[in-house]
Amino acid sequence: MKKGFDKDFLWGGAISCSQADGGFRDGGKGVSTQDLRYLDPSWNREQVEEKHHGSPFSKAEFDQALKDMDTMYYPNRRGIDFYHNYKEDIALFEEMGMKLFRTSICWARIFPNGDDELPNQEGLNYYRNMFSECKKRGIKVFATMLHYDIPVNLVIKYDGWKNRKTIDFYCRYAEVLFRELGDLVDYWLPFNEFNAGRFAPWDGVCLMQDQEENINQSIFQCLHHQFLASARTVKMCHEILPGSMIGGMIARFETYPATCKPEDALQAVQDEQYSNWFYTDIMVRGEYPKYMERYFNMFNIDIQMEEGDLKILKNSKVDFVSFSYYFSQVSTSDQTWKKTAGNLIMANKNPYLETSEWGWQKDPIGLRVTLNKVYDRYNLPIIIAENGLGTTDILEADKSIHDPYRIDYLRSHIQCMKEAVIDGVEVIGYTMWGIIDIVSCGPLTMDKRYGVIYVDLDNGGKGTGKRYKKDSFQWYKKCIETNGEVLD
Ligand code: BG6
Repeated sequence: MKKGFDKDFLWGGAISCSQADGGFRDGGKGVSTQDLRYLDPSWNREQVEEKHHGSPFSKAEFDQALKDMDTMYYPNRRGIDFYHNYKEDIALFEEMGMKLFRTSICWARIFPNGDDELPNQEGLNYYRNMFSECKKRGIKVFATMLHYDIPVNLVIKYDGWKNRKTIDFYCRYAEVLFRELGDLVDYWLPFNEFNAGRFAPWDGVCLMQDQEENINQSIFQCLHHQFLASARTVKMCHEILPGSMIGGMIARFETYPATCKPEDALQAVQDEQYSNWFYTDIMVRGEYPKYMERYFNMFNIDIQMEEGDLKILKNSKVDFVSFSYYFSQVSTSDQTWKKTAGNLIMANKNPYLETSEWGWQKDPIGLRVTLNKVYDRYNLPIIIAENGLGTTDILEADKSIHDPYRIDYLRSHIQCMKEAVIDGVEVIGYTMWGIIDIVSCGPLTMDKRYGVIYVDLDNGGKGTGKRYKKDSFQWYKKCIETNGEVLD
């Protein structure tokens, strides 16, 4: 029986390019879909939440954003300017003792229009330099190849993921990454949170809901194309870079039956199948699971497939499973059950759990439950690609930041991860989200902070941009130094 983490456990931190990089038009980068999401910095919390949960990205916003190319009311154009600061930021990661850094590669930096014949050398140089910096500092690289942002030209010209051509464009991009950056990347992830398309269609599959007659049909068609792109990429990775590790990731929505009523138990099984297992089952088992036939039938979804598609899925299996984990919820047959916010979805409330400032239900034990379930099902190594607490922090006059709430969150989750390791689950890494404050993905604000490193910028991008260590920085450093043994 294991007593704790293996000595080579990969303690890490994660960010994504669109939320961190900035350098919006530098280095020959094209415009990407995440550059088009607008935030008015004068909005109050309520207005921000209303926009985030109540009004999905529309065609009018899309058109306006393309006209507004010179304004910066689009937070992902600014990020935290990691593009120009990466050396200093990675030096802080080294100081913390980080072993693994997860970030995403911006497709539009490599192929500015998505359909270009040749890659943009400046974009490749940027990633070679940045990843080399990590290597120089003893940090391994975990590269997400697509974290919600595709070159906007692919949406304008081809309808994005609705078109099978996008699969080929993606595979060309993937091949360039393997050939040009393969010596620097240790872990690959073709797609961030595969199931996000189902819950946040603009982010996950680049669909504007007001342009779709049957949004569910379109989502699952796009997802089918992404599954094919992912499967071809996994196969290609194994051929070009034998021995490399490439995985599949979802946003895990851990759920418990709300009561011991059989209806609730059944609901929990189905929620789990439709929101979680469907995606990882395809990436690991290589086929559409049977339970989805009934679901597709129920919602009149008819996925158009070409001959050979199922074989493509069958012939590739990921080497590890990955997920983000922030909260859990309950499953119920009661339509009037109280709800609260959660990552990507509105969740059913669990009376036994406390919520974060943003309403997400904190459940460290749920992480242990999830790890056990995922490992039991697939028996593959697991990397927790995201986990952390988004909340406001106060920068004191002496530039300290006291964040005991974040330390509590991390401690309790890491303790449960350790218990899962002792249970026998093969967890090989943990990349805390977002190790340094970045633009939040849902609300697009800076005030929802996850980092152990504070970045002095407000929701409108104003501030010095300077980095300061929070109390949690020292705490995480100690955790890494002692390989998860000292957590107080
Ligand atoms: C995940 C995304 O779903 O949740 C991240 O992969 C995101 O990009 C994270 O930042 C937390 O969500 P939010 O909306 O609080 O930033």
